Amino acid sequence: MRSLVTLLLVLAAAGALVAKPLTVGFAQTGAESAWRTANTTSMKAEAERRGIVLKFADGQGRQENQIRAVHSFIAQGVDAIVIAPIVETGWEPVLRAAKQAGIPVIITDRTIKVSDDSLYACFVGSDFLQEGRMAAEWLVRRTGGKGRILELQGTPGSAPANDRRKAFAEVIAQHPGLTILDSQSGDFRRSGGKEVMEALLKKHGHNFDIVYAHNDDMALGALQAIEEAGLKPGKDVIVLSIDAIREAIQAVADGRISCTVECNPLFGPKVYDLVAKVVAGQKVARMQYNRDELFDSTNAAAVLPSRQY
Ligand code: AHR
Repeated sequence: MRSLVTLLLVLAAAGALVAKPLTVGFAQTGAESAWRTANTTSMKAEAERRGIVLKFADGQGRQENQIRAVHSFIAQGVDAIVIAPIVETGWEPVLRAAKQAGIPVIITDRTIKVSDDSLYACFVGSDFLQEGRMAAEWLVRRTGGKGRILELQGTPGSAPANDRRKAFAEVIAQHPGLTILDSQSGDFRRSGGKEVMEALLKKHGHNFDIVYAHNDDMALGALQAIEEAGLKPGKDVIVLSIDAIREAIQAVADGRISCTVECNPLFGPKVYDLVAKVVAGQKVARMQYNRDELFDSTNAAAVLPSRQY
């Protein structure tokens, strides 16, 4: 009889273990762009599909909000923490607190700079250096290495702004006929892209040939300013950007944007696969990059019907 009771208790405990859903805290940057909205949707929908309890915190564009959210996840004893860091630096103290609490951290979307690699388990997202390089190489092919460029940067201090700027500039520097005339931040926002473009038009008049925007939202904002100034994008100005959201691919098909390099935000499934492995104590590759494509007049229209974001 006693062994039967023991067996039932063991089975009940095992059942409880199997049934216990994972609890994950996710500190998102905010809602600055259509890309971000698609990324949040992917993270929320996939958590629901897998029965994961997701504690979602919107950082509203401020690192201090994200840090506060991570401390709160630690206090709640979540199984894992996922952070999409707004900026690259300033994460060590809160990551140390998570490590001390024994909670694994996965960095997603944007890379960070820390002196101690053991502070997070792994990174999953796009290779922003590669994106900047792809945009610049496309521009060299398209222009034959000639033209004056205005750059719309993303959020200062963020990995995508830093890397997309650096890699693009490195390629451009090899072509003396291409010059970056000016570079200002529109904070990855459509309104920011429009405002900065208006200011740049005032400063430079029509004396430029190319606009390189670090994301599609800023490019779409800049398009409005360019058209309001009486210029025809695609003819008077080459606009190129990064993300490949549906609206930008449509603009490529319409000839208003000349090229957009993909930065795929739909990696919720990949993040939770990693969470499950890390929580189970399995070893995972430290840097996991998504594969991204480039869209221009040769392939934009064909991809539109199946575009998910
Ligand atoms: O970190 C990815 C970048 O952040 C995307 O390019 C941009 O649209 C977003 O806001």
